[in-house]
Amino acid sequence: WDRRPLKLWRYREILPVTGDPVSLQEGGTPLYHMKRLGEELGLKNLYAKHEGMNPSGSFKDRGMTVGVSMAMQLGMKQVACASTGNTSASLAAYAAKAGMPAVVLLPAGKVALGKVAQALMHGAKVIAIRDNFDRALEMVHDLCISEGIYLLNSVNPYRLEGQKTIGLEVVDQLGDVPDRIVLPVGNAGNISAVHKGLGELIELGFIDRMPMMTGIQAAGSQPVVEAIAGNLPEVIPFKEPETIATAIRIGAPVNAEKALRAIRETGGTADSVTDEEILAMQRDLARKEGIGVEPASAASVAGIKKMVEDGRIDPDERIVCVVTGHLLKDPETVIRQCEPPIEIDADIQSLLSVLR
Ligand code: F0G
Repeated sequence: WDRRPLKLWRYREILPVTGDPVSLQEGGTPLYHMKRLGEELGLKNLYAKHEGMNPSGSFKDRGMTVGVSMAMQLGMKQVACASTGNTSASLAAYAAKAGMPAVVLLPAGKVALGKVAQALMHGAKVIAIRDNFDRALEMVHDLCISEGIYLLNSVNPYRLEGQKTIGLEVVDQLGDVPDRIVLPVGNAGNISAVHKGLGELIELGFIDRMPMMTGIQAAGSQPVVEAIAGNLPEVIPFKEPETIATAIRIGAPVNAEKALRAIRETGGTADSVTDEEILAMQRDLARKEGIGVEPASAASVAGIKKMVEDGRIDPDERIVCVVTGHLLKDPETVIRQCEPPIEIDADIQSLLSVLR
């Protein structure tokens, strides 16, 4: 068992697929020790699990290898999802690998360029609706029921089975359970999935405690944060969620109930960060650690920075921030933040003069 490569299907005994999976060799993403950023924050043990290093550039591939494999196993003929972008990119790729047609519904004008490019290039039927993600999800749900199409949003439990392997890998790589795992929260599937995976490791006797599950949302779409802060039994949806981190621009998270349980049962918490804090951390990760992520992913680390500054983090804590998607997913947001390249004539004098 120990000789199995650190890839998602290393954990096949606790995944639901029985036959050959539809796989693009997902999982086994790097766990980076963030030395410089950690020192700045006074944290010796700050890590990033870079899920942007999956085949399509986000953690969604873990859900899709299992989800699309199950669609095949169940004899389904077509798959669909609504998406803020990454789910659609991943579904399109795995459906292509499986040779199955895919339909994806996106909120028009609110999906990062790289993600739309992926969904289109992998051959999905891409439909942009003039409303937000929450409405797209309602619509695709109705479509799947009426047309017998297999729905692959995180309401599909097999998606979460795949994503639970993030937690297993973290324990494998760290050789221990971290004190805290921090995730950006949109539809609240991933935090629920990681919690489930670690719960299974406890049941199986591999570990004996849970990390504090910590969810970070964008200030403009933070229903889970408000439910935790107000000790509410369920979330009150945001009607018009807004944030530059379009991946988590979600007002009515479908997995909120599970996420609230994960946070409360583990003594974790939820907090939000502003768009400015998100972008500042996206730059810090890129420039101080060499870790390139999309804005939503920077939210997890930005959340920890805020909690450290508020004195809510013990400096001895071992913290793993899941960074969920790759920098190249959203090139437009990057270009808007950075100075453009300096264009010069092709001679050494011009080159030296701009470098001085
Ligand atoms: N980070 C990224 C990069 C995402 O794409 C998402 C969700 C999340 C975090 C939040 O994860 O929804 O499980 O709480 N993206 C979905 C999509 C909604 O359609 O790609 P969650």
